[in-house]
Amino acid sequence: MKVRDDFLYYSRPCFDESEIQAVTDVLRSGWWTKGKVTVAFEEAFAHLVGAKYALALNSCTAALHLAMVVHGFGPGDEILTTPMTFCSTVNTILSCGATPVFVDVDPETGLIDPDALEAAVTPRTKGIVPVHYAGLVCDMDRINALAEKHGLAVIEDAAHALTARYKGRTVGSFGNATCFSFYVTKNIATGEGGMLTSDDKDFIDRARVLSLHGMSRDAWNRYGSKGSWQYAVEELGYKYNITDIASALGMAQLEKLDAMQSRRREYAALYDELLADCPAVSRVRPGADVDSCEHLYVLKLNLQRLTIDRAAFIEELTALKIGTSVHFIPLHLQPLYQRVLGTKRGDYPNCESFFDRIISLPLYPSMTREDVCYVAQAVRELAAKFGK
Ligand SMILES: Cc1ncc(COP(=O)(O)O)c(C=O)c1O
Repeated sequence: MKVRDDFLYYSRPCFDESEIQAVTDVLRSGWWTKGKVTVAFEEAFAHLVGAKYALALNSCTAALHLAMVVHGFGPGDEILTTPMTFCSTVNTILSCGATPVFVDVDPETGLIDPDALEAAVTPRTKGIVPVHYAGLVCDMDRINALAEKHGLAVIEDAAHALTARYKGRTVGSFGNATCFSFYVTKNIATGEGGMLTSDDKDFIDRARVLSLHGMSRDAWNRYGSKGSWQYAVEELGYKYNITDIASALGMAQLEKLDAMQSRRREYAALYDELLADCPAVSRVRPGADVDSCEHLYVLKLNLQRLTIDRAAFIEELTALKIGTSVHFIPLHLQPLYQRVLGTKRGDYPNCESFFDRIISLPLYPSMTREDVCYVAQAVRELAAKFGK
């Protein structure tokens, strides 16, 4: 095939004049830090995901950490989660002094396996952090039932799952603390940013105080026209607040979310169609209960039908000027966790065999149908060239 002229990035943000205008308005207003645009963003976001309360933060990592601190995770507590995730899911557990306990995944979806989860509960288990991988949703009925039975906290890592649905319910509406990311590759992007949602007012109120140094009043409530100079430092907190500059981007992105989501669905369906008769590959697919938000198009190589491995397949794609990624290198294989948790290769075999086969292909609203066709053709030609 003829190699394209420009490199196709694995991910790019989708924006137009409305984001530029929204940010310009905030800059001109002179109120750059967290203020009334953030209040509006929190309200709109809570409404979108069906949560009662939302707290905008500077990352999903901050949302995870705050949720864990408010739930009181600490030394001696075991927190069940998946190795098929980004490091921040587990670094935040370690930052609380608690012990992450990995649970193997379903080898086809990469989602935490509910049977393995149940088997991993001990008297020291304090919480579960399910990760809604790639835009799919974990089996939340089983996870919530298990949590209720053993009195465990559930903190959902929904960095990939904005607008994903499970049994008709949107992620964010299951009543748990739920953490979203607006990192630049995510379904809405604010550069850096995140949101913590919950139906529990006290939970969000405490997280709000902790998100700004443990102070009783944020800047909006101190320097605004109705504010007061008084504040109290109530407890040891963090500097995790978002800015109105980022919230303005978030509001503009929410306006175009429906359009961006339909583009993602269209492109994912196009990949499906173009790769349907290519037995060397399949994709990570949601179960019948799940409506994916198509965050990632995770291609699974059928290694039995190929003479090259995943790393070589990626090199071939790169040579054709196609950007890719791998979500994720299993955490139990990373040096930090091998050192502090004693994990090793072989511990989570489903996760490892899943990892060996996956490649995230470009999937974002600002790419074109021609880009999708180019990538699919490349995959087909490589599958033919290196097929067996
Ligand atoms: C599954 C998962 N959890 C958490 C995060 C952290 O998000 P943030 O970069 O907003 O802190 C990411 C980021 O890529 C992620 O993929």
